[in-house]
Amino acid sequence: MKQFNKILLRIFLGVILSATLFKSPSCFAADLLTNHDWRHFTGATVTESGIEIMPVNRMIVPKVSVPRETDDQDVAEMAKRSPTPNPPINLRGPMLQVQGDFTISIFLEISSNKGAYLDLYGTLPVIYDEWRQEGKALRVGVKDGALLVSIWNGRSSEPITKTFGEGMTDVVEINVTRLSDNFVFQVNGKTVGKLRDPGLFNDGSIVFGADAEKGGGFIIRQLTAQALNTASKATVIDREPWKSYGVMPNSLRFIAAARNKPLYIGAAVAAIPLVTDEKYQSLVGQEFNMITPENDMKFQFIHPGPNLYAFNEADSLVEFAQHNNIRVHGHALVWHEALPTWVTGVKYSPSEVKLILSDHIRTVVGHYKGRVAEWDVVNEPLKDRGFNTDKGLRAANPWFQAMGEEYIDFAFREAHEVDSNARLYLNEYGIEEPGEKFDALYALVKRLLARGVPIHGIGFQMHEDMESGKYVGAQPDLVAVNMQKMANLGLEVRVSEMDVNMNAKSTPRRLNEQARAFAEMLTMSVRQDGLKSFGQWGVTDRYSSLAPMFEYFQLGNGLLFDADYQRKPTYYRMKEILANVPE
Ligand code: XIL
Repeated sequence: MKQFNKILLRIFLGVILSATLFKSPSCFAADLLTNHDWRHFTGATVTESGIEIMPVNRMIVPKVSVPRETDDQDVAEMAKRSPTPNPPINLRGPMLQVQGDFTISIFLEISSNKGAYLDLYGTLPVIYDEWRQEGKALRVGVKDGALLVSIWNGRSSEPITKTFGEGMTDVVEINVTRLSDNFVFQVNGKTVGKLRDPGLFNDGSIVFGADAEKGGGFIIRQLTAQALNTASKATVIDREPWKSYGVMPNSLRFIAAARNKPLYIGAAVAAIPLVTDEKYQSLVGQEFNMITPENDMKFQFIHPGPNLYAFNEADSLVEFAQHNNIRVHGHALVWHEALPTWVTGVKYSPSEVKLILSDHIRTVVGHYKGRVAEWDVVNEPLKDRGFNTDKGLRAANPWFQAMGEEYIDFAFREAHEVDSNARLYLNEYGIEEPGEKFDALYALVKRLLARGVPIHGIGFQMHEDMESGKYVGAQPDLVAVNMQKMANLGLEVRVSEMDVNMNAKSTPRRLNEQARAFAEMLTMSVRQDGLKSFGQWGVTDRYSSLAPMFEYFQLGNGLLFDADYQRKPTYYRMKEILANVPE
């Protein structure tokens, strides 16, 4: 304890000395604000006095509208969960490299009792559209005049939260010191609390985020860090500018583009790993010539408040794509899921809903005009059962309730008016094989075309399964029938979201079966007149949407690259097909 006090005294003296001798602590401490990128940080504005943080109130909702139209008990159960916060992360901003004992000093200017938080991530979350798998993170901030500290240990969504001290207002200096296995918290020079560090920053790098509680807002006036002894480290590094990966002759994308009738080979991509995980980024850049934002363009992510658009994450994907000559397929302008509560939780009149939708489509398509070549304008409009009512359309969503079937016409027309060059798709699952759902879709598309709606293509999602080691998904020869029917209507078709869930541990046999399933689907697809692209839903099993929901330690296994980023048999089979099977 004595030694502890001595160290604190040293820190205190250090700060006083540096402040008095050199006028600014930055002579000793690394400055994380000046000349670092805070411009791509959602909710932040860089000003003379610091980084202004405004409330974004970005939340992740459970599947709200589904229960009435689903038999799936898990989905119905999930709908009862409350929305969870999804605070912005400065992905492209500075990273603090740490080792040993160090202090991070934070000066916050706060003007209300509302929460004002800075988030320090040792590992980043994985973001799904129903939940956020938290990484290892420390949140420090002020709420109601007290210091509030939360620790996420990377194993659960529930943090340990503690409050310390009181009466903190105006400009508050918070010091977070890691001293061997503890965090020590000081406010305005006084120690107010201490918590055990479960190893949050053991990977050696800290990424910053922030969040202002609804109704509040604050300014980060200074953010500095300092190592406490010569064996420790606290240095700042920045992200590199976007890399351009050359197209290598044995890559998927090269072989797909070199075909007689070139084909886009795609992957669904997420901003966090794309920006922060080099291996993931290099797979995307090297292997694919089309990407679809997996979640970052969905309504609740990109339009979290009535007058608030959050483009940064999706912008990163689009910028990366531009640097690497990758075509972007936008996803999804209109859907019944991933809707923020400001849309679903308020009773609007039909004309108000129409205005919300129009503003959303026009703003998002407008923002990406010329950069996003094609869009899923309407995603999953059809029910899973009960095709005899509402022409099979899902009714439990604000769009249908306000406009009936015409919401689909409206959405396509609005998108087309803003970007007449963009190819506009309707994307759906469960329509791969002939059946009632496909019939409902086919009838819908014919009505749309008859009304002159600018629809250009159909996405067949192709989320498929294996059971007891055997592929039990859609049969390629049957899918071919449906694709041809759409092509006969003059539409493009695409495989938009393929994955083949093994529903069991990966084994060499299962990997082969998975490869066979992908290969046969691709072989069939490349022979279709209307086919423009073939994509998998994700990049590697490490971040796959097939990971069981709300589970921290289980991964999916339905994609081309495994959790260690290694190429699976599917990858090699797909290359053979692309190289050898004529259209
Ligand atoms: C998935 C995302 O990949 C997951 O991260 C999320 O947890 C659930 O949604 N059909 C679609 C996609 O159109 O948007 C869905 O994406 C998968 C099913």
